[in-house]
Amino acid sequence: MNDKRFAAASTFERPYQRGNQLPRSQLQVWAVDLDCASGDLSLVSTSERTRAGRLRLLHQRRRWLTAHHAVRRILALELGADPAGLEFDTTAAGKPFLARPAASLEFNLSHSGRHCLIAVADRPVGVDIETWRAISDLSGVALRVTTAREAELLERRPAREIHSSFLGLWTRKEALLKALGQGFLIDPRQIEVGFGPAPSYVNVGARTWTVETLAVGPGMTAAVAIEGDGGTAPMVRSFE
Ligand SMILES: CC(C)(COP(=O)(O)OP(=O)(O)OC[C@H]1O[C@@H](n2cnc3c(N)ncnc32)[C@H](O)[C@@H]1OP(=O)(O)O)[C@@H](O)C(=O)NCCC(=O)NCCS
Repeated sequence: MNDKRFAAASTFERPYQRGNQLPRSQLQVWAVDLDCASGDLSLVSTSERTRAGRLRLLHQRRRWLTAHHAVRRILALELGADPAGLEFDTTAAGKPFLARPAASLEFNLSHSGRHCLIAVADRPVGVDIETWRAISDLSGVALRVTTAREAELLERRPAREIHSSFLGLWTRKEALLKALGQGFLIDPRQIEVGFGPAPSYVNVGARTWTVETLAVGPGMTAAVAIEGDGGTAPMVRSFE
């Protein structure tokens, strides 16, 4: 795969900003073009095939399998393991995790159309990507996902920026909810993530999470969230 949009994705360094309570995280973010990535799809498991089989359209099934095949290959590379030997499970809230081999390696994936991001880290991580689309009742949707302060800040944005600001906020929030492992089982109005592009440090319970906007090219918005106060810069790299 060599998608120019993702090839242009920026890699940015930022200093470790607020103290060093936690060791630096090891975070990688991979971009996969699900219509171009190649690979041996026979590597995916029977249960993955069954899940893909529930999707209605052929291209959706193929994309789903390609995304999960990419997860398998990326984690196998990271672990120096046989991709076919990896086993996955999901939490009660549905978050997939690596069950075998035992390793302190976490991952999360997000897909939107043909685009997929896979985040891999040494601690809980969440990622979200959205392809830009018209949102007919943006104020109504915003009311259901923003805190009062976020709603107020959104309203103050110039009209031409509201849509992109909202998607920025939305992806940051979803990345955090996915890092927490609960997704929208948590009311998104309870958590403030900020609009970015600067990283936000969000306290949930006793833990701090870093939430960052990712640069993934035109027509898309993406964000990653990771447990810990700061860490190494998220590098978006193309996975072929
Ligand atoms: C997770 C969630 C936010 C996904 O949103 P989305 O915009 O449809 O999809 P994305 O492409 O960004 O992410 C989907 C991926 O997130 C992962 N995921 C699923 N549940 C997750 C969770 N609770 N936490 C983190 N990641 C999760 C999966 O890998 C999924 O991809 P897959 O189905 O190909 O394996 C949403 O489905 C949700 O809130 N789920 C949790 C609550 C729930 O309904 N649980 C059901 C009990 S099993």
